[in-house]
Amino acid sequence: MFRSLALAAIALSIPLAVCAQPFRLGLITPPTHQWTKTAQEISQEIAQGTEGRLQIMVMPSGQLGNEARILQQVQTGAVDFAFLTGGEFANRDPDYGVFYAPYLVSNTQEAAQILQGGVAHTLLDRLDGFGLKGLGWGMAGMRQIVMSGPIETRDDLRGKRIRTVPLAPEMAFWSELGAAPTPMPLPALYDAFANGQIDGMQIDHESTWTAGYWRNAKVVLNSNHMIFPMLAVASQRSWAKISPEDQTRITAIMERELAQMNTAYARIDADNLAELRQAGVDVRNVDRDWFGAAVDRWYAAWRQKAPLLTVLEQEINE
Ligand code: BEZ
Repeated sequence: MFRSLALAAIALSIPLAVCAQPFRLGLITPPTHQWTKTAQEISQEIAQGTEGRLQIMVMPSGQLGNEARILQQVQTGAVDFAFLTGGEFANRDPDYGVFYAPYLVSNTQEAAQILQGGVAHTLLDRLDGFGLKGLGWGMAGMRQIVMSGPIETRDDLRGKRIRTVPLAPEMAFWSELGAAPTPMPLPALYDAFANGQIDGMQIDHESTWTAGYWRNAKVVLNSNHMIFPMLAVASQRSWAKISPEDQTRITAIMERELAQMNTAYARIDADNLAELRQAGVDVRNVDRDWFGAAVDRWYAAWRQKAPLLTVLEQEINE
């Protein structure tokens, strides 16, 4: 671990003596995933921008545990930064579930826009209540559906074990469709799909291609049915130890890198979809109508549970 820090310091021409105890940033995505690549870029920029005074060691692939465990450690200050899906937050405060509304937006550009809006800011500020400092919103590509068997209509989804993130609004969508939502964290997914523990999954094209889920897929439904936001956070305890000048530097770097990543997802989604098609995967386009009344039922239930959903819908329609 310290050898790799030393190598990073040499690569960045930073005197080793300057490097204090490094901060740690935890996340569950593997090194090939864009979230991890962005975290690495942020780490390098912060080292360069602070002449090596601040180092952030990126710990991918759930090395620090699942998201519940990472969140717990960030809250206590045992881990300093994290990139987290909305799962742990939405399960505690339904307002964090509003971005998982099906067909809320139609593409990644619109998704990136709403993650800069008023509701996004309100939820970022509300992270104080979790002992966190919110640094910005990221996202992965649009959610798609990868199935191990043939699917023609939504009725073919009935009773199927569909992997979701352990996240109430995602699970609710699959329950509305009559499927059996099966919550499962990302690192467990390849084996579960390969050995038939699940019949399908809700995921994005990037992971489907780069993690190789497509190898066990019969059909991919190019549904673009949901966005998948990410929260970049710092531990309030760790944040308080950083000087105001360095806090400003970190915030600016995070904002810039997250905005670049969110913009890049239009290309990332398109490139990975093209790879899937080229590999001969049976990719079918489906839209909101294909899911029938399940989408409207989801909205009816979640407008009651999450007051910010109506505010978000107004924001989008303005
Ligand atoms: C997922 O669990 O589906 C996931 C998590 C992080 C990034 C992308 C996908």
